[in-house]
Amino acid sequence: MKNWDLKNKRALVTGGSKGIGKAIVAEFIALGAEVLFTGRNETDLFNTEQEFKQEGARVTALSGDVADAAAQARIAEWISQNWGSLDILVNNAGVNIRRPSHEYIVEEYNKVIGINMLAPFELCRLLLPMLQKGNKPSVVSIASVAGSYDVQTGAPYGLAKAGMIQMGRNLASEWAKFDIRVNTVSPWFTYTPLTKGLLSNTEKLDSIIARTPLKRIANDSEVAAAVAFLAMDKASYITGQNLAVDGGITAGLL
Ligand SMILES: NC(=O)c1ccc[n+]([C@@H]2O[C@H](COP(=O)([O-])OP(=O)(O)OC[C@H]3O[C@@H](n4cnc5c(N)ncnc54)[C@H](OP(=O)(O)O)[C@@H]3O)[C@@H](O)[C@H]2O)c1
Repeated sequence: MKNWDLKNKRALVTGGSKGIGKAIVAEFIALGAEVLFTGRNETDLFNTEQEFKQEGARVTALSGDVADAAAQARIAEWISQNWGSLDILVNNAGVNIRRPSHEYIVEEYNKVIGINMLAPFELCRLLLPMLQKGNKPSVVSIASVAGSYDVQTGAPYGLAKAGMIQMGRNLASEWAKFDIRVNTVSPWFTYTPLTKGLLSNTEKLDSIIARTPLKRIANDSEVAAAVAFLAMDKASYITGQNLAVDGGITAGLL
């Protein structure tokens, strides 16, 4: 019988210093995993690491931009040197720049697509040899409802998340022969530092809540719970899926 836990699992969570990523790190620790997490702002990163360590967790923070090849190489090197294998890869780090498509400059959409889509693809490729040595390995990427529908968050973000969802399907098929499961989680609006500005606009907040069947915004821990389930051996027959954590919004016509 497989357990509802992540004992004997070693996980990498990109962007684990705040928001949904931090909640995933906390959930993984609570379920028994050892976690490596990343972020760019070193103050946030190492404060979060301290917070977890004070509770006795087995965590390590590594700074760097996931879209930077040298930082990706440092992550792979750390895992190879310290663990020699990887059981769970969570592609969580993401950013958005909200504006009409025609107002984007090339550098801005390259950044949004680079961090949200190309970096996860590159990390998956780079870490494949470590995942192949892992204990019932799996990949979970954090996309968005914006990857399946226009939710007025900007076309580059939507197309990057759509690419991430499709990456999950393709890699699930390609990597089934290695026994690596690959899934995607698509949150709807969730309270995090990323959405703080937008959700403090009461008109926007009321309109989002009015459209959401469960009539509220998600908490980061509700997204983390879905990620933990997909990463667990309990989800051993689930691969290539995109699980919406969305209060029911995609069940209707948005
Ligand atoms: N919140 C929502 O409503 C919502 C809805 C749907 C999908 N999502 C997705 O969920 C994921 C997490 O979002 P969130 O709301 O938790 O965002 P957040 O509060 O801004 O946190 C993002 C985390 O990722 C890190 N990060 C961002 N860019 C990075 C980079 N280039 N390299 C390394 N780390 C990076 C951030 O730390 P640093 O800034 O210090 O690097 C932080 O730890 C994202 O992929 C987002 O697109 C969020």
